[in-house]
Amino acid sequence: MNIAFRFFSKTGESVFAILSPLLLMLASCGINKEPVSFTPGEIWNDNKGVHINAHGGGILYHNGNYFWYGQHMIEGDEGNKAMVGVHVYSSANLSNWEDRGIALKVDEENDDSDIAKGCILERPKVIYNEKTGKFVMWFHLELKGQGYYAARSGVAISDSPEGPFQFIRSFRPNAGFWPVNAGEYHKKQVADSIKASYCGGKGCLPAHPDTLNLLGRDFAKGQMARDMNLFVDDDGKAYHIYSSEENSTTHISLLTDDYLSFSGTYARFFADRYMEAPVIFKTSQGVYFFMGSDCTGWNPNAARSAVAKNILGPWTELGNPCFGADSLTTFNSQSTCIFPVQGEKDRFIYIGDRWTPDNAIDGRYIWLPVELKGERFEIRWHDKWKL
Ligand code: DGJ
Repeated sequence: MNIAFRFFSKTGESVFAILSPLLLMLASCGINKEPVSFTPGEIWNDNKGVHINAHGGGILYHNGNYFWYGQHMIEGDEGNKAMVGVHVYSSANLSNWEDRGIALKVDEENDDSDIAKGCILERPKVIYNEKTGKFVMWFHLELKGQGYYAARSGVAISDSPEGPFQFIRSFRPNAGFWPVNAGEYHKKQVADSIKASYCGGKGCLPAHPDTLNLLGRDFAKGQMARDMNLFVDDDGKAYHIYSSEENSTTHISLLTDDYLSFSGTYARFFADRYMEAPVIFKTSQGVYFFMGSDCTGWNPNAARSAVAKNILGPWTELGNPCFGADSLTTFNSQSTCIFPVQGEKDRFIYIGDRWTPDNAIDGRYIWLPVELKGERFEIRWHDKWKL
């Protein structure tokens, strides 16, 4: 150090003046920084020392910051309902998250509102529209007091990633439109006996519900949409991916250019496979991957995966992408998001929810690295891992 002092200057003050910006610069370049690490399933505190409350969440990267949106749960089993709204956190490094408050509030005044306090509002996701400069949130919405009968999609908009988001409306997708891959049998008259029903998803319908033609049943009023996700492609087109037809079939719908509605162009996949918790991500090679779960309520199950060269298909199923102990329960979690790490080619992180339905607020987050293997991907458990 003395050598440096003598080399740069005769006085301590001027050396300090020279060195301090240099040290600051080195620090901001990340030199000597601890690598970011994750401990899946552990309590994860925000900047206020409170366990992060963003379940069924998704990540948006915007202007140097990541934003984590998710369902704000409260204590007890009532916490599975939307009593507060959608919580948002921000982070520059994916490890330290700052509480940014409630991005979308439920309506506490008006019990007739689509998003009245006590409704079911699940799996909120936010994307940014380059053309309009707006942040657009979509979520699975069930009207208050109607269980999982409504099967709607909700949309909200904001000028800022932190909100406040203004609720626009909720609706069923693609009323009056057939998917690009509808069969001729779908377009035939539907028997009156096929009633709209929700009895818990899988198990309440015959083994092959597609033969009932639930797609045709819901053609006029719009298709059912429950567990959902969003995906923005390299060309700026955005897609809504959701469990439809009583959860038996997955739909992928192109949104309008403003991302606020359905374009009417959509396709259906994995008929009769009862997939929930859908996720889509894309590699630098232009390969689209799908991950989802089986349909077993809050209980974890073995994940599913699929690959495609075109987002509107065809999709080829690949099986369970998880390997090792607890891979048959997706490491006791259910997928909610797979997002790219900024500035790193083909580096993706899986986020799953470890639900605790009896005390919803205690749900944990399972973040794990995604390993790309050509036209497949794999996920393995790590007690602790570094980015
Ligand atoms: C599984 C879904 O993935 C969750 O989002 C939630 O809807 C539960 N089912 C409710 O049982």
